[in-house]
Order: sequence, then structure tokens, then C-alpha cells
Amino acid sequence: MATIQVTHLVQGYATTTVLNDINLETNPGDIVALIGPSGAGKTTLIKTIMGMLRPKSGRVSVFDQAMPNRALLAHIGFMAQTDALYTDLTGRENLNFFGAMQGASRSALQVQLAHAAEVVALTPDLDRRVSTYSGGMKRRLSLAIALLNDPPLLILDEPTVGIDPELRRQIWTELHTMASAGKTILLTTHVMEDAEEATQLLMIRDGAAIAQGSPTALMATYHVQSIEEVFLAAGRQQDAHISHV
Ligand SMILES: Nc1ncnc2c1ncn2[C@@H]1O[C@H](COP(=O)(O)OP(=O)(O)O)[C@@H](O)[C@H]1O
Ligand SMILES: [Mg+2]
Repeated sequence: MATIQVTHLVQGYATTTVLNDINLETNPGDIVALIGPSGAGKTTLIKTIMGMLRPKSGRVSVFDQAMPNRALLAHIGFMAQTDALYTDLTGRENLNFFGAMQGASRSALQVQLAHAAEVVALTPDLDRRVSTYSGGMKRRLSLAIALLNDPPLLILDEPTVGIDPELRRQIWTELHTMASAGKTILLTTHVMEDAEEATQLLMIRDGAAIAQGSPTALMATYHVQSIEEVFLAAGRQQDAHISHV
């Protein structure tokens, strides 16, 4: 069973088309990175998979059920691009609030909370108000909230923005451990170092999938040594194709 299945998705706002014929399948153990520049359509795709936007055409299913589907949300650890935190509350209070909303028992929640805070290195700052946090700390708290319930599917929109290299490494180690345990991780990024950590890549440019596959397969296809070069080569191919139609 595919965790996420996107088939011939066309998506947009009002009369504009933002995504054109996107296809994606993710399976347990996959770490899938959506890569593309700002405005490419990454967040629009994430919101459509989450059921926050209905497809203009095409199909989106999660755990073999069509989205939108409110009941499925309990099984998805979601981190939005814009932090949705209570800034008057402390980090711990935010974690307790969102954990309770996800239906965790009080005792189970304390164990999960401690683990999630460790993963994002926020343990020493948990009792400070979120209004005193830096941008990166807010990203880390949002990530901790997404991890809280130990969900089988993580959907993370720009999780590494504002996070320093050492902590980035620690977070990636945790994501690899989770994927090895059979979880599915879908994330967006415009940073090539993140893309190199993924098992599958979907490169989006101007709403179109310009390249798709594992990092090693893509580098072999384009005869290049880096993900960045794959993106540039696939982009040139897209431009050449557009100028011919
Ligand atoms: N609510 C909206 N209404 C109209 N246009 C939007 C809306 N959200 C995003 N867009 C447009 O859709 C395109 C893709 O945006 P987005 O999915 O946020 O890209 P990314 O996440 O890759 O930066 C952009 O041109 C953006 O301006
Ligand atoms: Mg975005």
C-alpha cells in the first residue's frame, strides 16, 4: 500500500494553474524531498496532499483513502511552512496542548514530549515563552510537535529553515532512523544538502515535475556529480522543450 499517491494532479488558485500533471508515490521507508525554488508550487502540493486544498483535477490519496479526510490527519505529523504556535505559552505548554489535541494520554505524552524535545535540542529552552524564541527555535518546536505522536507519516514543509548545520545533522539522523523503522517522510526544501539526504526526489520548477527518482539514479541519468547539477540540467531541458512548443 502506498502511503501517498498523487495521480495526474492539476492544482491552482482561482483561474491560475500552479501545478501541472504531478505524479508521486511514496512508500514506507521512503524519504521524499520536493525540491524547487521559491514559488515553484511545493507548499501548494503539500497543502493538497494534506487535504487543505481540493485538486482541480487528478487524485490524491493517503493510506489508500482519498483526501480531504479529516480522520486521517491523526496519523500524519504535519509541519506547516509558517509556524502555528502559541507565542504567549512556553515550548512545553505548546507541546502539551498539541499532544493533548492529538489524543495522547498524559503519561505517554510526557515520554514523547521529552524525546521530541531532545531530537530538536530544545530541552533546555522548554520552559521559556515562545515569544522569546528565535526563528530557528520556532521551526524546531514545530518539528517537535509533528514528531510527538510518533506518526507513520511525516509531512514537513521547509523543516530545516534557520537551523544550524550541527543540529541539521542531528535531525537528519533522527529522520533516517524513523524511515528505517518503516515511516514515510515527505519534506520540501530549496537546499541541495537536504535533497542529498532523501531516498527519492521530485524536482519542481514552474509547477512542473522536471526530474524524479533517487539521487543516484538522477545523477547517472544526467551524467553529473551533484543534485544541484541535476536540477540545472533538468531545468535547461524544460526551457528547451518550452521553446519548441
Ligand atoms: N493562496 C494563494 N492564492 C493565490 N496564489 C497563491 C496562493 N498561494 C500560493 N500562490 C501562488 O502559487 C505559486 C506557488 O506557491 P507555493 O506553492 O507557495 O510555492 P513554494 O512553496 O514552492 O514556494 C506562487 O506563484 C504563489 O504566488
Ligand atoms: Mg513553500
